[in-house]
Amino acid sequence: MLKFDKNELYIEQVKLSDIAKQYGTSVYIYSKNQIIKNFKDYKEALGYRDGLICFACKTNSNGTILKLLADLGAGADTTSGGEIYRCLRAGFKPAKIVYAGVGKTSEEIEYALKSKILMLNVESFEELDTIDTIAKKLKTKAKISFRINPCVDLDTHSYIATGKKGTKFGIPYKDALKAYLRAKKKKNITIVGIHSHIGSQILDIVPFKLAAEKIKKIIESLEKNNIKLDYINCGGGLGIKYEKNQKILTPKKLISELLLVFDKDKKFIFEPGRSIIANAGHLLTKIIYRKVSGGKNFLITDVGMNDLIRPTLYKAYHEIIPVKRINTKKVKTDVVGPICESGDYIGKDRMLPTVKQCKYLLIKCTGAYGAAMSSDYNSRPKIPEVLVDGKKITVIRKRANYQDLMLNEI
Ligand code: LLP
Repeated sequence: MLKFDKNELYIEQVKLSDIAKQYGTSVYIYSKNQIIKNFKDYKEALGYRDGLICFACKTNSNGTILKLLADLGAGADTTSGGEIYRCLRAGFKPAKIVYAGVGKTSEEIEYALKSKILMLNVESFEELDTIDTIAKKLKTKAKISFRINPCVDLDTHSYIATGKKGTKFGIPYKDALKAYLRAKKKKNITIVGIHSHIGSQILDIVPFKLAAEKIKKIIESLEKNNIKLDYINCGGGLGIKYEKNQKILTPKKLISELLLVFDKDKKFIFEPGRSIIANAGHLLTKIIYRKVSGGKNFLITDVGMNDLIRPTLYKAYHEIIPVKRINTKKVKTDVVGPICESGDYIGKDRMLPTVKQCKYLLIKCTGAYGAAMSSDYNSRPKIPEVLVDGKKITVIRKRANYQDLMLNEI
């Protein structure tokens, strides 16, 4: 929902330079209608099949965005007690919340059970025993799935590949039956499903299908052992178009291919995060200074790696564009932040027109894992987030101030 009109860049019907003037920079900006569209694409892809689209709220846990998705009928994929808390506060029904994570603490498990969420995705044998013990103490039965690591290879950054052999995630494929048989014997455990999430920013259908085929084989062997599952959770992971030439899969393609693998009577869960929110959010920044050093052109902006860590952490690419169309000659430029580390950059060797001091740039598709992974490193207060709906702008997180930096310090 970004478009140029008379050389000015708009998000929905709002001029980005107006947002900068009104709210200052840097600022995360989201398009409400893009979020709605992205979610509806998933709902339509699921069609009449029974199931849930659970937003992976680690991608963006702003309460207003969560509430928007809860109101649209989404479920939530959570990964900590804090996320369960946020989702309940935002209005997600407990029966639509799933909870994965390799290191759930006893306190978090107790909180999840007391909150009566749909299921916990168990990632180890010891976790299963702990959940059983806590459920017994609470005089309840814990509904669980096992997160299975299907051990498939992936072409994505190694930090975000989770379904490969030898990662810390889930129960290894070969131990799946053993895990279910152990769970079947537990008095305070009810087995409800199976879960697999193989990684993130995946652009190819092949690993998704390979994982699904392996999960299907497990389901068949479980059925031979009289274990029947209600839910198949295929995880998230669908990639988005960060670079112009990238070919992406649509939710429709992904879901239709995966549904072919499984029986019709199952309920399906998908846990998209990035593909719901990444292209709905962008980061607006101001050029503080320009300089030439060692033969290189630098634009120094007010976005630091504390506001957006993805380029530094994963060498991630985000397109950077001036918010006013400029027709000057393009020059090779490094766009960097103000933090005292050479790793603090947004984009390297970008061909950009000569943009003046105090002018604005937009760092595109930063709605996922942008604000959510930000910190106040270098004592830089967290930046605001605004939501745009047509002509309307709503601040959904205010800019933090210097006092906020010391909150909770004694
Ligand atoms: N389900 C589970 C169990 C997950 O661990 C994740 C993401 C998702 C769903 C959502 O995956 P998505 O649809 O967003 O690909 N910070 C990294 C990405 C980390 C992904 C963690 N797990 C980044 O900025 O690229």
